[in-house]
Amino acid sequence: MNMETSTNTVDIQKAATSKIENTDFNNLAFGQVFTDHMMICDYKDGAWQTPKIRPYGPLEMDPSAKVFHYGQAVFEGMKAFKDEKDQIWLFRPEDNFDRINKSSERLAIPAFPKEHFFAGMEELLKLEKDWIKKGFGNSLYIRPFVIATEAGVSAAPAKEYKFMIICSPAQAYYSGEVRVQFSEKYSRAADGGVGFAKAAGNYAAQFYPTNLAKEEGFQQIIWTDASSHDYLEEAGTMNIFFRIGDKLITAPTNDRILDGITRKSIISLAKEFNIDLEVRRVSVKEIVDAAKNGELKEIFGSGTATVVNPIVGFGHGGEKYDLPKLEDSYAGFFKDKLTKIQYNQAEDKFNWRYLVK
Ligand code: COI
Repeated sequence: MNMETSTNTVDIQKAATSKIENTDFNNLAFGQVFTDHMMICDYKDGAWQTPKIRPYGPLEMDPSAKVFHYGQAVFEGMKAFKDEKDQIWLFRPEDNFDRINKSSERLAIPAFPKEHFFAGMEELLKLEKDWIKKGFGNSLYIRPFVIATEAGVSAAPAKEYKFMIICSPAQAYYSGEVRVQFSEKYSRAADGGVGFAKAAGNYAAQFYPTNLAKEEGFQQIIWTDASSHDYLEEAGTMNIFFRIGDKLITAPTNDRILDGITRKSIISLAKEFNIDLEVRRVSVKEIVDAAKNGELKEIFGSGTATVVNPIVGFGHGGEKYDLPKLEDSYAGFFKDKLTKIQYNQAEDKFNWRYLVK
């Protein structure tokens, strides 16, 4: 029997039992275990309906639903953190809200209302609060997404959608060392395309080239510009920063690069702590030259799932380059600053934290 309650804006049916006792929180592979509930909001007759929270479980959909055929799907990645007083915090959630609607607009999906986004997510997080564990490195990964559910294979935007949120307790995204290959053949995004959007298909398109890179000993690809492959852009699951001497460089966002929330937080922190950071195009040649003459100190990725992830080496033109192991890395510095803000252990000068009440 499910228990039914409702708030002003969210229709809630609680799960009769919880899976939490069977979850090993010390051994979590990223995105494998999901919590007891999910949020669902349907779009039909030209409007988003009342958001619902239901026990987590499979969806029933028509096999001709447009998401299966034309990939009309976008998503977000967010995290909830618990502090020492058991308060639950989100990090810059308004930016995720804005971004999912930017992604939706590009895929001809109707914008999702802000009040539904926040009411649905907060009710869900309150129900799942025991799934959020305290301590650095523990979080609840939140995955909002939208899919086109209308039946019919005519190639046109759907008239029906589901906006959903599912949650997964998380620790590290990458469990081992990360080596990257600079892309010389394949591309992730093109001018005028959907690279800036968190469109599901952007990720599918990376799997095959990434598998090839894995066969050569790399975990990820750093995507280069599609026309010349001369400029380094982003890593697909992360934005990317390079440190030459004491200068940090990251590519400017454009319609091929995701406007990462962790990326822009690092840029703000660099300004606050007077770290020399240039937002400009980064050429493959510049990085390879700097690696050869010893000036390349670090490469690191940034993203919600991974936070800040050091890269231990890269490959290009058939050569492999190792990066030095630094005691006082910028990657470590930014990870420490960011996580202390996220877990409510440092002052939040930029007003990034959002308390779930
Ligand atoms: C995130 O950092 O939330 C991402 O979107 C990466 C994801 C593909 C796991």
